[in-house]
Amino acid sequence: MRIIPFFNKNKERDGEIIVKELNINLTHTSYKIIIENGLLDHIADYIKTVYTNKKIFIITDDNVAKYYLKKVSKALEDSYIVESIVIPHGEASKSLTEYAHVCEELLKKDIRRNHLLLALGGGVIGDLCGFVSSSLYRGIPYIGVPTSLLSQMDSSIGGKTGIDFFGRKNILGAFKQPKMVLIDPLTLNTLDPSEYTSGMGELIKHGAIGNKKLLTMLMNTQEMNEDIILESLSVKKKMVEMDEFDMGERMKLNFGHTFGHAIELKYGYKHGVAVGIGMKMALQMGLDLGVTDKEACDVICHILDKYSFPQVEYNYKDYLHDVIYDKKNLAGTINFIFVTKLGECVIYPIKEEELGVDTK
Ligand SMILES: NC(=O)c1ccc[n+]([C@@H]2O[C@H](COP(=O)([O-])OP(=O)(O)OC[C@H]3O[C@@H](n4cnc5c(N)ncnc54)[C@H](O)[C@@H]3O)[C@@H](O)[C@H]2O)c1
Ligand SMILES: [Zn+2]
Repeated sequence: MRIIPFFNKNKERDGEIIVKELNINLTHTSYKIIIENGLLDHIADYIKTVYTNKKIFIITDDNVAKYYLKKVSKALEDSYIVESIVIPHGEASKSLTEYAHVCEELLKKDIRRNHLLLALGGGVIGDLCGFVSSSLYRGIPYIGVPTSLLSQMDSSIGGKTGIDFFGRKNILGAFKQPKMVLIDPLTLNTLDPSEYTSGMGELIKHGAIGNKKLLTMLMNTQEMNEDIILESLSVKKKMVEMDEFDMGERMKLNFGHTFGHAIELKYGYKHGVAVGIGMKMALQMGLDLGVTDKEACDVICHILDKYSFPQVEYNYKDYLHDVIYDKKNLAGTINFIFVTKLGECVIYPIKEEELGVDTK
């Protein structure tokens, strides 16, 4: 069955505006995530609660600008002086060149260290703008306004920022937490369906590793809604709060990525789609090792099929060799992530030599 989720287009449900809130509490800071249909129309109301200076610099990409730059600028203009910088869309913009370009434009527009950046866009804009925010003047505040599914349910929280360099993804970066994250799920209505499916990969992953309720919601609905985004974010929240600087627990977010990465490189699937396929492979390996419960495997595979992931069969054993050569492997041990039962998972270290792969 092919079901593409779509977002409830109504601003109100039963006459009431629904606002969801989540707090991220870290050692030295905390911040709010607000989810509200139609939030962009009155975004200044939220920004005013954390920023009272005069100037705001919006950083966005050309795709997102087409739909939302005017709307957001207009909603801010009564309260702030608004400047904007539009960069080309796509991963190629997470580069040193684009980083330098954005910094240069900001300085030309006379940005000061107590001004605010607004990251309006998907994960690319979030990562780049966050990195600029961490480094320009040794740190200026930013607010995330994620507009893609992936950025709304995942990348906009947790404070990982960065750019690609020397052929390596996210190799230059910093931890920099936003002042606030403002999510308007109505922006998902203009997202390309292929980006949607890719975001669904990471969303289903969150259910698989940490939220049985989210899996049930995904089984029973065909419509994206703010509760699904909230449940997904709550998994990331828990991991980020337990492991702010990515030293252990956050590793669980790599479920599906070990094999997914190999598949992405080999066949060129979009990242989240490859993660979906990688999850199926990890589920099979977990089953073979007796770590993964059969019900969990069946339910997660069913959800992936429901949300239009490619029905391809790759045998995980054929990709162990690629996994061994992945850059993340430490001292000959690979930390696999296996789902144990629905909504639960373990970090499962296996020594290279125990994988039975000829590495000569
Ligand atoms: N920092 C983190 O924790 C973290 C986590 C996961 C992924 N990431 C990064 O996120 C990036 C991927 O994010 P992404 O999938 O959002 O990619 P993206 O930012 O490239 O967005 C995908 C495409 O959708 C367009 N788009 C975004 N919102 C839209 C909207 N509402 N309407 C129409 N078009 C819209 C964009 O212009 C782009 O073409 C990668 O660089 C990845 O490394 C970061
Ligand atoms: Zn991922």
